Amino acid sequence: MIKSPPLGSSSGLTNLASAKRILLLIGGGIAAYKCLDLIRRLRERGHHVRVVMTKAAQQFVTPLSVAALTNERVFTDLFDLDDEREIGHIRLARDADVIVAAPATADLIARMAGGHADDLATAILLATDKPVLVAPAMNPRMWLNPATRRNVEQLKRDGVHFVGPAVGEMAERGEAGPGRLVEVPELLAAIESQFAIPAEGKPLAGCRVLVTSGPTHEPIDPVRYIANRSSGKQGHELAAAAARLGADVTLVSGPVSIAAPQGVHVVRVSTAEEMLGAVKAALPADLAIFAAAVADWRVSTPNTSKIKKSGSDAPPELTLTENPDILKTIAQLRKGRPTLVVGFAAETNDVLAHAKKKLKSKGADWIVANDVSSRTGIMGGEHNAIHLLTSEGTESWPEMSKAEVATKIVTRAANHLATLKRAAAE
Ligand code: C5P
Repeated sequence: MIKSPPLGSSSGLTNLASAKRILLLIGGGIAAYKCLDLIRRLRERGHHVRVVMTKAAQQFVTPLSVAALTNERVFTDLFDLDDEREIGHIRLARDADVIVAAPATADLIARMAGGHADDLATAILLATDKPVLVAPAMNPRMWLNPATRRNVEQLKRDGVHFVGPAVGEMAERGEAGPGRLVEVPELLAAIESQFAIPAEGKPLAGCRVLVTSGPTHEPIDPVRYIANRSSGKQGHELAAAAARLGADVTLVSGPVSIAAPQGVHVVRVSTAEEMLGAVKAALPADLAIFAAAVADWRVSTPNTSKIKKSGSDAPPELTLTENPDILKTIAQLRKGRPTLVVGFAAETNDVLAHAKKKLKSKGADWIVANDVSSRTGIMGGEHNAIHLLTSEGTESWPEMSKAEVATKIVTRAANHLATLKRAAAE
């Protein structure tokens, strides 16, 4: 029986304690070549990489190249007697700290979502109890197809993590959109974020974090409401990132169709007034992030029964009342104000000018501004390009996944809270 090599034995290690065993399942896509670079980078960082290739993957890169880079044999067959005698699929599934499927094709994702186990890769995915990270790569139309959307949502509900896909040009000429495998640095960061963070890597341990997310629904009558296109993805990622850094997180969410992140306390609300109530109930907090797209107005008196269309009448007129500004209310509290209050500014024009005004008028400490005009694809999309406005100035960050934006904002907030704490102690 082959013994797992000791962690880090495969390269000039710099950090033995953080070296991990990564099982990489390479799927059949043109982007499979990026896995060669990924393997090199992972080994440079001291990780041990074992690879399983699907049949289709072997059409794009050869097991020989992969074996040369991993310095290990490559596993390809579920029913290979030699493989099963040496190290069965159950052990492959268990002998890893994290399993990464990249590039994950629409077919691989569908088979995972369906719980199939008809080849070595899917059998391992079904047998594992380890974190699974999926990096999809496919044609944009396949990614946007309702079947793929359903499969991805199902896998997210099952606790599978995703990175990407990135938006851009595809290998097929003239095709562009979401579907590219993320670049190696992003993949590396996502893989390393899967490892259990040691206590010293949990800078928000002992902190209470409050996050608002998603849209609000303001009723017109029992069946109709005023809403907006917010998906809740950025807010949910912020809550997940804060939980990963050790915080005690309350996520106050408007109606969304995405899964709640693990390890956070979720309070589901519908209207802005309900959201304000839930936010107040969740205080005190050290950090409050208001990522929800709250409706500015509600219908003053929603009809108690469905408004009927009657031939000759003019269309009904809706009288609107301004909703409470939740961010402003909390930022301007005299007692019990969270130490760090972060607002969002979703704008479609003059993004920075509007965001600067909001920083002042709302009383927030930081404003995260983004351009949500439809051409950016940010609202409802997987990526975000933000400007961070603080009392010290404005930083513009390059486009990245909403998960990465969340990790960076929350890490930054954790550092800021630590600085304030140190200053208070001096
Ligand atoms: O909608 P607006 O651009 O003013 O939103 C800016 C910030 O204020 C966001 O953080 C949003 O969550 C928050 N907000 C709020 N309550 C409102 C309107 C906005 O908390 N009624």
